[in-house]
Amino acid sequence: MSEYLPGLEGVPATRSNISFIDGEKGILAYRGYPIEQLVEQSTFEETALLLLDGELPNAESLENFDQQLRRNRRVKYNIREIMKHMPETGHPMDMLQTAVASLGMFYPSSDNLSGSSGEGKVDYIHSMSVKLLARLPVIVAMWEQIRNGYDPIEPRADLNTAENFLYMLHGVEPDPLQAEIFDTCLILHAEHTINASTFAALVTGSTLASPYGVIAAAVGTLSGPLHGGANEKVVEMLKEIGSPDMVKPWLEAKLFKKEKIWGFGHREYKVKDPRARILQKLVEKVAADKGMSPMFETALALEEAAAERLGAKGIYPNVDFYSGILYSEMGIPSDQFTSLFAISRAAGWLAHWREQLSDNRIFRPTQVYTGQPIRDYVAIARR
Ligand code: COA
Repeated sequence: MSEYLPGLEGVPATRSNISFIDGEKGILAYRGYPIEQLVEQSTFEETALLLLDGELPNAESLENFDQQLRRNRRVKYNIREIMKHMPETGHPMDMLQTAVASLGMFYPSSDNLSGSSGEGKVDYIHSMSVKLLARLPVIVAMWEQIRNGYDPIEPRADLNTAENFLYMLHGVEPDPLQAEIFDTCLILHAEHTINASTFAALVTGSTLASPYGVIAAAVGTLSGPLHGGANEKVVEMLKEIGSPDMVKPWLEAKLFKKEKIWGFGHREYKVKDPRARILQKLVEKVAADKGMSPMFETALALEEAAAERLGAKGIYPNVDFYSGILYSEMGIPSDQFTSLFAISRAAGWLAHWREQLSDNRIFRPTQVYTGQPIRDYVAIARR
């Protein structure tokens, strides 16, 4: 193939049996299971294991995996010291990328990938996946304490991933409804085919780099506002709009300037993102409990106005549109929204890393050269 397609639109970058999107019908399934059924019946821990192993676990395998996650929450003292030296004004995603990369200094290197085969390799991949899945939420929550001048709160092994995260973030045991909602959010964000950050993970993994390098690359890629960083931008945007009656003039001005509306549009979906539908219902659940927030009212008005102006182009709310509103309602600082995305998406990244390594070939695409023809070097005095 020699045709160049900007953004690799429509170019298959791999074969994968992890997740499936039908962008016309608004379907997303992990390992064949529709996302709607997983959020109703599964948990983040079970969904993560489904993504990693390919099948729903039996009760014993799930219990083992859950215990492994709970036992692996402690983060080395040195990582905490590194975090304490970071500026509290820095973005949490930059902190996360640094901390994840730093973890690589403390655990067995990727020699295990080139040296061993069969079971040794699978064991290494599994144990590193557990370490990363268990520690990412802990690091994000620790940062919230550290950047506010406190010592991090110790993780608790009697809480599940969602509960422990909220406990370490806020310092009090979470309200059960909030923990349940957050668990749903973790399921919803866990995997999404070959998006930009997953592709970054695949490329890095294909060099047999360490899993910490793989996840650090993916975290950096997720942070941009065209990808996971959009959830933070959505909240800024809704605050800027202010109220439902300001939506139409604001939207017209944005579209006139050809600016993007954060939380709208998707390369794969031509209808409303199925995850946005579920997240919207969760915001409604919170609103039923706490009352309708002006931000949610503004968001609903924006969705309606944007459907009139952008619907014909297939531009509808994506996952980031309602997640930011939901997290705001849960009292989570807006610059942490993308970190919440990362701790969940790590499950998908690790599943793809494992799939890539099962039949690895280094990624090395080609380019269409648009530079100078071969020419003679000109000495500096003659330039
Ligand atoms: N607001 C307004 N117009 C949008 C838009 C948005 N959010 N998303 C896409 N469009 C328009 C583009 O202006 C372009 O219009 P044109 O053909 O008239 O020039 C067309 O739709 C295609 O957009 P493009 O940016 O080329 O699509 P893409 O597939 O490369 O990008 C996204 C996909 C997600 C990066 C893009 O929709 C976007 O930037 N969305 C906002 C950021 C966001 O919410 N990201 C989170 C994704 S989960």
